[in-house]
Amino acid sequence: MRINNCHNTNDFRTLARRRLPAPIFHYIDGGADDETTLRRNTEAFNAWDLIPNVLAGMETLNLSTNVLGCQLDLPLFLAPTAMQRLFHHDGEIAVARAAAQMGTIYGTSTIATTSIEEIGACTTGPKLFQLYVHKDQGLTNDLIDRCKVSRFNALALTVDTIVSGNRERDFYTGMTTPPRFTLGSLISFALHPGWSLNYLLRKRFELANVARYIRQGTDVTSSVVEYINSQMATNISWDDARRIRERWGGPFAIKGIMSVADARRAVNIGASAIMISNHGGRQLDGSRAPMDQLAEIVDAVGDRIEVILDGGIRRGTHVLKALALGAKACSGGRMYLYALAAGGAAGIQRAMTLMRDEIVRDMMLMGCKSIKELDRSKIARRTG
Ligand SMILES: Cc1cc2nc3c(=O)[nH]c(=O)nc-3n(C[C@H](O)[C@H](O)[C@H](O)COP(=O)(O)O)c2cc1C
Repeated sequence: MRINNCHNTNDFRTLARRRLPAPIFHYIDGGADDETTLRRNTEAFNAWDLIPNVLAGMETLNLSTNVLGCQLDLPLFLAPTAMQRLFHHDGEIAVARAAAQMGTIYGTSTIATTSIEEIGACTTGPKLFQLYVHKDQGLTNDLIDRCKVSRFNALALTVDTIVSGNRERDFYTGMTTPPRFTLGSLISFALHPGWSLNYLLRKRFELANVARYIRQGTDVTSSVVEYINSQMATNISWDDARRIRERWGGPFAIKGIMSVADARRAVNIGASAIMISNHGGRQLDGSRAPMDQLAEIVDAVGDRIEVILDGGIRRGTHVLKALALGAKACSGGRMYLYALAAGGAAGIQRAMTLMRDEIVRDMMLMGCKSIKELDRSKIARRTG
């Protein structure tokens, strides 16, 4: 199978599974505990039905939206995900450039394998930095200041990961960072020589943003769980979020909001956007799906803050449904990570082009000329 034979997210997932050693594939693919939330995030879209209008005189389409101060050509952007050089040797650089080509935001993670400065230099496209608050306040402040120097457009504070979720697949596969070639995983690494040779021979693996401050970012082999549990501040509060917003001073999102009460608090501290998200089902299993919380949150705060739906997006119609309920944009992780693993920059380019084509085709079939025309009259919750 080649990337040209991939026609949807699931095809890219199948190809990624073939290309990656098992510990790496399952690190992307897995979720917390019983993975109930991971499954529901996508299933939740099936509880909603689109209602098209026909004979709408369709000619040109406008897919643009403005979110976090960025004018996007597509109402879908690339959510921040950790350690992209593990999935393909071109890692973050490939993802950032593909996002720029699609005219959408690239989200880079605090625990990326390419530094803020390298990302800043490699693309002029819209860039969002995802901040994890570390116990070391100097480190956290430094990351914010470095993003300003490297001209990031927006900052997203992730608030759902003060401790790591229980990702049991990683225990079974022995997933560590940097990957350790243990007896258990050796067969899988040996069966994927393309990946293993690239990993061993190319640029050394490191958590490029934090390596200069923390040993676990460089030469200490640890699990992601150990890293999060030893480095993240668990005591962050809304006052800290406000201080971070003030230090940053630009468009500011809170990523990981699930309740109406927290959405209101985000408005109160002056955030520009909230990302309704449960971290792709990787943190609190049993948490509700973002799509199931969307309407209630939009009704409460949608006129005062930008609402972004994050999680579960695998199809263009998923984006349309979220926009119809009032999201300003959507973001996703696995939809492009599988493609990155399957084929690097060309893989992401193809996956995101397919996603855009789906959105265009589905807007035509919905009789909507712009995403503004996607409103509550175009969607209904399935009953029974
Ligand atoms: C492999 C992987 C790594 C991730 N790393 C981060 C991260 O470092 N920071 C963060 O805020 N979210 C991270 N996320 C969550 C994504 O930003 C996003 O919320 C999630 O992928 C959305 O669900 P989806 O994969 O169904 O689209 C990660 C997700 C995956 C799959």
